Amino acid sequence: MDEIIFNFKNKNFLVTGASSGIGRQITKELAMAGAKILALARDEGKLKALQEEIFGDICINSVDVTNYDRVEKCIDVFVTQHGKLHGSVHAAGIIDFTPLRAFNMEQAKKIMDTSFWAGINVLQLATKRKYAEDCSSHVQISSVNAYRGQRGLSAYGAVKAATPAAIRAIAKEIASRGHRVNSVSPGLVNTDMTRQNLLSDNLLENYLLGMGNPEDVSGLVLFLLSNRARWITGADFIVDGGYLA
Ligand SMILES: NC(=O)c1ccc[n+]([C@@H]2O[C@H](COP(=O)([O-])OP(=O)(O)OC[C@H]3O[C@@H](n4cnc5c(N)ncnc54)[C@H](OP(=O)(O)O)[C@@H]3O)[C@@H](O)[C@H]2O)c1
Repeated sequence: MDEIIFNFKNKNFLVTGASSGIGRQITKELAMAGAKILALARDEGKLKALQEEIFGDICINSVDVTNYDRVEKCIDVFVTQHGKLHGSVHAAGIIDFTPLRAFNMEQAKKIMDTSFWAGINVLQLATKRKYAEDCSSHVQISSVNAYRGQRGLSAYGAVKAATPAAIRAIAKEIASRGHRVNSVSPGLVNTDMTRQNLLSDNLLENYLLGMGNPEDVSGLVLFLLSNRARWITGADFIVDGGYLA
């Protein structure tokens, strides 16, 4: 059932992690709803393929989100050409095992830098007066791992728990200009990330509605970006097919 139709005509959004999985689906649906999108990820080939597939207005930039200067440059050029942003989605992220007995601090920091600090940087840039319209809306992708432990994923879980904690504080800092920020915490979604052999602990048994697909998450993200969510900020939303139940 696809009966909810969003209209993002004349709206500009930044999406990170647009080359794959959840970020790709969000980018596609925003474009279908008429938005102009600045789509960021590292893999230029995948971004080009997305651009060809989408019948919409999308500017692609191959960039590592941990390179803050490059990210700002991309936003600066986009805003100069297309106007200020109405919101952002930080969906770029990585996952890896960091079991305690073989804890790899470098790997843990990389997960934190990509999934969390880069998201805070995106939020800072995308709410700056020179880059953002007032009353913009932002979504950061967290995970059910913020709420429930999974063997070997302590760093990933901690990073994901940091996101809703940070956005609760940031929501208070940005509300005076009407800006909003929320996070979305998906359960297991069928993407490149989950094809990395991380299905341990009979994980799927706890999914009352089975494994999700990117389009099971994107609808909520588009809703949060839309004006219908104008009274919603500083909150985390679980979309997990009943996993945490
Ligand atoms: N899939 C799940 O089950 C699940 C569940 C809960 C939460 N999440 C979260 O949802 C988000 C999206 O994950 P996904 O499942 O869609 O994974 P995915 O298909 O692997 O996509 C990850 C995206 O992040 C981008 N990315 C990674 N490192 C980057 C970097 N340094 N700079 C720029 N872009 C980077 C990748 O693009 P390039 O490789 O082209 O750079 C890709 O577009 C992540 O935060 C993930 O933790 C996923």
